[in-house]
Amino acid sequence: MPGLIGIGVGPGDPELLTVKAVNAIHNADIIMCPASKEDRPSIALSVVSSLIDKSKNQEIVKLIFPMTKDKNILEETWKKNAKIMAETVLSGKNVVYLTVGDPYLYSTWIYMHKDLKENYPDMEISVIPGIVSMFTFASKVGVSIAEGAEKVAIIPSCYDLSSVKEIAKNSETMVFLKDGRYFDQVIQVLKESGFPNDSIFAIGQDLGTDHEIIRKLTLGEVNDDTLTTKYFSILVVKRV
Ligand SMILES: C[S@@+](CC[C@H](N)C(=O)[O-])C[C@H]1O[C@@H](n2cnc3c(N)ncnc32)[C@H](O)[C@@H]1O
Repeated sequence: MPGLIGIGVGPGDPELLTVKAVNAIHNADIIMCPASKEDRPSIALSVVSSLIDKSKNQEIVKLIFPMTKDKNILEETWKKNAKIMAETVLSGKNVVYLTVGDPYLYSTWIYMHKDLKENYPDMEISVIPGIVSMFTFASKVGVSIAEGAEKVAIIPSCYDLSSVKEIAKNSETMVFLKDGRYFDQVIQVLKESGFPNDSIFAIGQDLGTDHEIIRKLTLGEVNDDTLTTKYFSILVVKRV
């Protein structure tokens, strides 16, 4: 029976895909992936491109998600792309949709999956998890995300930082994901929340690419010059 599978392709290294993800990609008729513009590459697709068997003539479909915070445009986009997915599956094709990392962490899949469940309740949909970028970073930099009874907060750093202070007071580890342009504001907020100067301050950018940056400092050492601004940035700050 034709269906749709949301696949987490991990953080960028094709060797970090699960066997289940590789098998699902091989068995698909159509491989769908997100991109911000028609002429922009899909990062999720680039992760798996070496695994695609060209002789199978699988169709690759880029779904466009413009980089905007306009809620109306976003909702319209999710609806439109969910419809494309649904119509393709209903035409008898096996479809996979690729997402970077895991599909259930800050991913376009989440919104389309909600729409599809609501509007196409009989459609066969499943999800294959992927390795989350922050765990790849933890392995590379050698910093544990949680030990013993430690509490962890995951913050999408491009949003409102005003609530972060209270969260930081009650957490041992803070993980900031998304747009790294806000990391300079985070330093002050964490200091004001009682994170001591000897807290680990580890930053990972463009992991798995030729431009990969990994830095491990203390909160006391970091200053604006330490930070390079990139969208693909992860910041882990941890009390020691
Ligand atoms: C839209 S979220 C997607 C998260 C993804 N679903 C996951 O499980 O990691 C994109 C953010 O994930 C982080 N990220 C994902 N892949 C990364 C990589 N290779 N290097 C650094 N950060 C990455 C960055 O914080 C980036 O801004």
